[in-house]
Parts: sequence; C-alpha cells; structure tokens
Amino acid sequence: MYNMYDDLSYVMISKDEIQAKVAEIAQKLDEIYGDTYPVMVGILKGSTPFFADLIRAMKIPVQIDFMAASSYGNASKSSGFINIKKDLDADISGRHVVLVEDIMDSGRTLSHLKEILADRNALSVKVCALLDKPSRREMDITPDFKGFEIENEFVVGYGLDYAEKYRNLPEIGVLKPELYSK
Ligand code: IMP
Ligand code: MG
Repeated sequence: MYNMYDDLSYVMISKDEIQAKVAEIAQKLDEIYGDTYPVMVGILKGSTPFFADLIRAMKIPVQIDFMAASSYGNASKSSGFINIKKDLDADISGRHVVLVEDIMDSGRTLSHLKEILADRNALSVKVCALLDKPSRREMDITPDFKGFEIENEFVVGYGLDYAEKYRNLPEIGVLKPELYSK
C-alpha cells in the first residue's frame, strides 16, 4: 500500500502541534472579532484543512466564503500577476474579512488579494496564515495572525502540495530530496 509517510524525510510539525496552534489562533480571533460576524475566506485549495479546523475551533459565529487565485505562468518563478479563478460570493462591504491561507511565502498572492478586497469597502481585511516563510518575502506584507514561522524549506501536508499531492497528509513534513526531481 502506498503510504505518504514513506515519502517524507521527516515530519516538521505534528498533528498535535498543529491542532494546539489552531486552537490558539481561534481563541485570538474570537477575542478580536467578538460579535462582528466576520467573513472567513479560505483561499483554495491549500487552506482547506486549516480553514476547516480553524472555523470549527472558533466559538463566535462567522460567515464562510472561498476564493481561488493563481499566478500567471511558471509557478516556481512568480510573475507577480494574480488571476482570480473563483471570486467571493459574499458582499464584503462594511464587513470584517479574514483571509485564511496555508502559507505566506513571497507574499504576492496575499498582497494582491488584500488589495483587491480593500477596494470593496470592507471594514478591515486581515490575513491569517498557518505558516510563514519570512526569508522568502518579496512584498511588504506580514500575516496579521500566524501559526508557525519556518525556514526556507519546501513543505507538504495539511493542505500544502507538491504537484497537487500530499494535501491530505494530516501533518506538515519535508519530502525526501529524490522526490522533488521527479
Ligand atoms: P506566495 O504568493 O509566494 O506567498 O505563495 C503562496 C503560495 O505558494 C502558497 O499558497 C502555496 O500554494 C505555495 N507555496 C509556497 N511555499 C510552499 C511550500 O513550502 N510548500 C507548498 N506550497 C508552497
Ligand atoms: Mg499550492
């Protein structure tokens, strides 16, 4: 049987560590947003496990919505252009919005999405990223809420993919080097 764990050189962040951090972020969001009924926006597809856990760990009522974006051209060398493949259903004017993402890397995706939403008269647009790779940043942006800061290493699992694989791994890990060249 194919076992994804066999493809990992190591687990970087365990299930328990992830869930403890999710609970911590959820509590912070509860305190900050209170009775404002914020719109939690999951950025497809990478945020889905984090998003599902996060909103269920929150005790305040929230509206949920999704966006999908892709950068034009070669994925490894970001061109800086963001294509909206799926837009929000919700009208966010007068609402507090929290963009939920798996990881902030160059920061291009989230700074573009933030800009687009800021033009729609939201009361606020904040960013919540489970992982942050500050050493890779190309834009002037940091997550307003974040889980873990990590080194410049490519990770998979808990929503993060390598060629669309490993998103369903419940932990965050690093692939064996020989798998990247395939
Ligand atoms: P950014 O626009 O450069 O911040 O890119 C963010 C997107 O790049 C994330 O939503 C991921 O899809 C992808 N990404 C960045 N780093 C990693 C990684 O280590 N593993 C998997 N995907 C990553
Ligand atoms: Mg991705």
